[in-house]
This record gives sequence, C-alpha cells and structure tokens, in this order.
Amino acid sequence: MARRVSRRKMPDRDDFRVKERWKIEEGVFDRKTMMNIEKVFTHGIVSEITHIISRGKEADVYLAKAGDKVVDEYVVLKIFNQENTSFRKRVEYVKGDPRFDGVKADIRSIIKIWCRKEYGNLKIAKEAQVSVPEPYYFNGNVLAMQLIGDDGKPAPILRDIGIDNPEEVLDEVIENMKRLYQAGLVHGDISEYNILIKDGIPFIIDIGQGVSLGHPKANEFLERDVKNILYYFRKRYGIDKELQNIILKIKD
Ligand SMILES: Nc1ncnc2c1ncn2[C@@H]1O[C@H](COP(=O)(O)OP(=O)(O)OP(=O)(O)O)[C@@H](O)[C@H]1O
Ligand SMILES: [Mg+2]
Repeated sequence: MARRVSRRKMPDRDDFRVKERWKIEEGVFDRKTMMNIEKVFTHGIVSEITHIISRGKEADVYLAKAGDKVVDEYVVLKIFNQENTSFRKRVEYVKGDPRFDGVKADIRSIIKIWCRKEYGNLKIAKEAQVSVPEPYYFNGNVLAMQLIGDDGKPAPILRDIGIDNPEEVLDEVIENMKRLYQAGLVHGDISEYNILIKDGIPFIIDIGQGVSLGHPKANEFLERDVKNILYYFRKRYGIDKELQNIILKIKD
C-alpha cells in the first residue's frame, strides 16, 4: 500500500531522471523534495545541478546551470530542510503576519510557507529596487533565484571579506532597508552573514523571515536589524552612527 501511494506521488521515471541529472545518492532527499526538485527541471528553470554552495541551519544552497526559461547562465537553488527543527522557533514570524492568517502550523506546512514567503518577499524587494537576488520560481520547499556572483562563483558574505568602502556599503545597506520598509517589509535577520558583496555593492539575502509592517513585532525587528548592522560596522570599521537617527531615516 505504502508503495502504491509513493508511486502515485512520484513515478519511477521521474525519480530516475532526478538521480540521473544529479548523480545524487539514495536517501539524500525525501521523495517529496525530489518531486519538488524535478519541477525546476520540467519548468525550464534549471538544466543541471552542479554542486552545493552552503549547508545551512535551515536550508542547503546549490549552484545549478540555468534552464531555457532563465536568461542568466546560473541559478541558485535553496532547498529547505524538511527535518529541520529550528523551524519550530519560526512559527511566530508566520503567525503574527496578517498575510498568513489561519494557516496550519505543522513543520512541513511552515516550511512550505517559509519558502513561499521568501519568494514573495524577494519579489516585493526586487520591485522596490532593493538589491536582492531575483526570484525565479518556488515549489514546495525549493526556491530558485539569481546567483549573486561571477561565472558561477558566489559573491562572498560581508563578514568574510575586508571592504575598502565601508561608509558607502553601510549607507547602501541602510538605503536598501529603507526601500524595503517603504515597500511594507522588515527583513528581520540583517547581519554581516546575510549580505553578499559583489563589486563593492551589498546584496541582501535570506529574507524568508521578513515580515510585513502589520506584524506586531515589525518595529522591534527593524530596530534589531539596524542595531546589528551598526554594531558590526562600528566594531570592524569604527564607523559611528546613531541608532535612532537611522531608524527615523528608514521610516521617513
Ligand atoms: N542568491 C545567492 N547568490 C549567491 N550565493 C548565495 C545566494 N543565496 C545564498 N547564497 C549562499 O548560501 C548561503 C546560505 O544562504 P542563506 O543565508 O539564504 O541560507 P540559510 O539557510 O540562512 O543559511 P545559514 O543558516 O548559513 O544562514 C549564503 O551565506 C551565501 O553564501
Ligand atoms: Mg543566512
């Protein structure tokens, strides 16, 4: 019986295609994730998955070659980990957001919402001219987006490099936060880990926890974001900026 159910969910030939295209070993992904990955192939988003870029707390990130529906040469796939227990703590980000009233709160549903939320937040950010990766597609726990980097090489995170234009980068990060806020969103996890530097320009990533301004903790999250980024630039580059001034600037 179990076999019949799983067969209906995912025919053997699809299973085979995913494995062939991506020489993955049995058991790396559950069947549902395999099905979701298969869709990025059939939708022309990805033609080949090449290697893993990052194994994270909530998701693994892979580099892929683009399919014929994507103009760029590469695509980044963020695959949210179904087993991940850290999502239990994430419930409050979803529950307080009016966009997600009345949703189920089990881990699998939360992960699906999280992925859809990251896609939706990236769309809003992109439209508001915030420097973020362009979102291409999402399905279940799989999100496809633009690679921030050169020739298939991801740009480094802010923390891992020394920049020679820190004042400019900080101003640019604040400007991005302002644009995002004016578009009705707060990132909620801004830090030196979630900013990539490409050609001296900051790009903001990892926006799944971003909340709309209707969220009861939106202001708290904004203040925490500004605090984190100011702390980093003060500690590493000796740049002093006043917290409340920056918050007012963002909200203005
Ligand atoms: N669009 C992108 N272009 C280039 N690199 C990316 C992109 N998205 C993610 N990465 C890389 O993958 C890493 C993890 O991505 P992200 O922060 O979105 O996931 P995460 O699950 O929060 O990971 P972590 O737990 O490590 O914070 C990033 O630090 C970055 O190096
Ligand atoms: Mg991250």
